[in-house]
Amino acid sequence: MSNDDTKDMVETVDVSPRDPDVPQAPGGDVFRQLLHQAVRVADMANSQAMRMALDFAKVYEREQGVRKEFENQLKQMTLMEKQATRYAEDLAGMLRSERERRQELERALEQERIASEELRRTGLQGISHLLLAATIKDRTTGTHLQRVRRYVEAIAERLGLPGELVEEYGYSSVMHDVGKIHTPDHILQSEHHLSDDEFSVIKQHCIDGEKMLGTARFFETARAIAREHHERWDGKGYPDGKKGEEISLAARIVSVADVFDALTSKRPYKEAW
Ligand SMILES: [Fe+2]
Ligand SMILES: [Fe+2]
Repeated sequence: MSNDDTKDMVETVDVSPRDPDVPQAPGGDVFRQLLHQAVRVADMANSQAMRMALDFAKVYEREQGVRKEFENQLKQMTLMEKQATRYAEDLAGMLRSERERRQELERALEQERIASEELRRTGLQGISHLLLAATIKDRTTGTHLQRVRRYVEAIAERLGLPGELVEEYGYSSVMHDVGKIHTPDHILQSEHHLSDDEFSVIKQHCIDGEKMLGTARFFETARAIAREHHERWDGKGYPDGKKGEEISLAARIVSVADVFDALTSKRPYKEAW
């Protein structure tokens, strides 16, 4: 019931027709006063209830807002968490495949290392056999090769070359005259002055040596040495007339060691210098 309804009701009571001859019951005023009081109290209660309802509505609205915001944030956080999990999984996957690739590469490198070590050992064995064969055939040649190797290693070391290169130059030097297998003994061991034809046969040992050493990487330096160890810095050597730094460093070192040993050794036609 609204305020207006209550007032209407009071007015209705108030304007009821009175008979002036009939004495009014003394209870009528009291009743009106009580009614007015009741109406005021009802008014107050009503407006209080309205205020409370409005306050409640406001609080409820605010609470709803806060809840919605909280839900939104929760939704966003859940989304971010999902994304973060996906990123983490992707990253873990990438790391895993990267690690697998690296392991595969390491395995391949290890196999490559084993294979090349095997090849090196085989090559070195071949060289030892060659040296042995040379020594059996002719003791002088055998000891000459061993000394040249020692000189070459000493020079290379003194030049500050890395250990691996010193070793490579050393074992490769052993094959510098391997092409002489094709040179007839009567020319090789001749104690007379060689004719031009004989000398051109001698020169051939450089070219033959290079060919005999094939194409393997292991003999690359040996091939250069076999081909170039009779070249000269001034370009007056053979077989190609290369000069200066056109000649490989390994061949230049072997050339010095070879000549040094020839000069300091006794030969059928000369004393040792
Ligand atoms: Fe030679
Ligand atoms: Fe020699």
